[in-house]
Order: sequence, then C-alpha cells, then structure tokens
Amino acid sequence: MMPESSPPVCNYEGSDYQETFWDRGERAYEDQVEAIALRRLLPPGGKLLLEVGAGAGRNTPRYAGFEQIVLLDYSRTQLQKAQQRLGTDRRYIYVAADVYRLPFVPGLFPAATMIRTLHHMADAPLAIAQIRQALQPGAIFILEYANKRNLKAILRYLLRRQSWSPFTPEPVEFVELNFDFHPRAVSTWLREQDFVIERQLTVSHFRINLLKKLIPLQLLVNMDALAQLTGSWWQLTPQVFVRSRAEGGPQPAEPGSFFRCPACHYSPLQRGETSLDCPGCGRRWGVQDGIYDFRKPMGT
Ligand SMILES: C[S@@+](CC[C@H](N)C(=O)[O-])C[C@H]1O[C@@H](n2cnc3c(N)ncnc32)[C@H](O)[C@@H]1O
Repeated sequence: MMPESSPPVCNYEGSDYQETFWDRGERAYEDQVEAIALRRLLPPGGKLLLEVGAGAGRNTPRYAGFEQIVLLDYSRTQLQKAQQRLGTDRRYIYVAADVYRLPFVPGLFPAATMIRTLHHMADAPLAIAQIRQALQPGAIFILEYANKRNLKAILRYLLRRQSWSPFTPEPVEFVELNFDFHPRAVSTWLREQDFVIERQLTVSHFRINLLKKLIPLQLLVNMDALAQLTGSWWQLTPQVFVRSRAEGGPQPAEPGSFFRCPACHYSPLQRGETSLDCPGCGRRWGVQDGIYDFRKPMGT
C-alpha cells in the first residue's frame, strides 16, 4: 500500500526559517494580519486540531481553544523548535511526517489548519485529499495559500515584466518547490474532496515595503483587517485564507484509535520502548524525545 514514490518535499531540516523570516525579518505586519484572519475563521474550540506544516509552532498558541493539538511537520528540527517554544505538555503531540503519507486513522480530526505550507506542494490536490481522509464529517479545515492572481503579479504581467499569466489555473513554481496557486484551482480541489467553502479572507493587502515603512504598524494592520472582509467577493492579495467544512465520510474514528501505519495503513500500532510498531507490515516508527517520526521506518 506504500505508494512507489510520493511528490518531493521541500526540506526545512536544519533551516533557520523561523529566525530569519519571522523573528528578524520585520514581518510583524504579516504575522499580525494572519493572526486576525485565523481568529475570524477558527471555531471557538474543540478537542483536537491537526496543524499541518506547523513549523516552529508560530501559530500554535493561536489555537488556544483546543484541548490537544497535533503539530505535524516533515522537519524534525522545526518540531524541536516548536517543542522549545511550547513545551512537552501532553496537550501538544509532535509528529514528523509527510503530508502525502499521513499516519492517522481516517476520521480522526474535527479541525485542521494548513498555513504557509500548501505553498510547497508539488501535488496540492493530493495533499488536500490526504488531509480530507483524516477529517471527520463536519470538520473545519482552514487553508492558507499563496495566490498567483495578486495585484502585483497582474501589473507585472500587463507591463510584460513577467512571463507567466496570473489568470490561468495552473500553479506557478517561481522557485523550486515554491508554488503560487490560482483561487479557482484551489476552490475546485477543495470541492472535489467534498469540502464546502464557508468563508474566504484576503490577507496581506499592504505587503509593500514602502507602505510598511511609511504607515504605522497598527494602522496598516487595521486597514488589512477591514480589507480582509472583501475576500469572499474577489481575491487579489498574495495570501488567501479559506475556511471549509468537510461533508460526509469518513466516519469518525473509533474512540482510542489514533495512529496508523503510513505505509500499509494498519492500525492500531503497538507501542515499543522507542517505537510504534506495525503488526501489519513489521515496520517500526521511531519515537524520540517526544517526537513521533513517521518519515522513514527505523533501520532503513
Ligand atoms: C513556510 S513553513 C510554515 C511554517 C508555519 N506553518 C508558519 O506559518 O510559521 C512551511 C513548513 O511546511 C513543512 N513542510 C513542507 N513540506 C511538507 C510535507 N510534505 N509534509 C509535512 N510538512 C511539510 C516545512 O517543513 C515547513 O516547516
């Protein structure tokens, strides 16, 4: 059942993304407008939330209404940073895994988010389909994506400074494994997986260095907060947040079931001393320093 190959992964192992992009990157505006969008779209709370591509846990404190949060990321070092930030309380479950091979029983989660991560998906519809399988009927999925049909790209295209069209539905890979998507394409992929789109917010309307320098941060954030509300009518910003609801199956997972083997899909896995072992195919998945590792079985 393990697919022969899955799409390539943008590797953040050892990356200082959190420090250079966020902590020292003068991106307070981007961070704050994302926080506002999340606040508007998140359900008030719930038992369990899956955060796909959690990175160093920048957004995790924003899911305060949830009893437990699964931070899933392909990069173990990003999860270690998240662990340093959030601690080892059992409220947080750290899982190193590939979104294309999720290690969860179907119908486990009543909510999921994916922020700044679809951006790295060479096969975005497949990633969305995998997440959909892990969700219960009625689950809320908040997806952020990078929008290729943004004002800057449109202007550059019209002035012939950019070869690719912002109006066509195919993704544009502007740097290896970094993709911008067309809003219509993302909506189609969600609907194909029986998601009903409930609300869209456009985010980062004023992501222009000159504006960020000239206009006080709080004013710029407030302006964006207002402009976000136009998101269900048109999407011309570099970032779009979509809240969708999963319609229909899979049925909610049996109480107590959680992980499954990402290779053969067997569950339940048996707890070993430093691993979760699959009785179905014999693979052993490592558990070390509070991080479950489903990327490669032990001993390979
Ligand atoms: C740009 S960072 C965003 C981190 C966080 N969501 C945030 O907004 O601060 C993208 C994250 O996606 C993770 N990622 C990329 N491809 C992945 C995959 N195939 N499966 C799981 N995580 C992946 C990377 O390791 C990285 O931590």
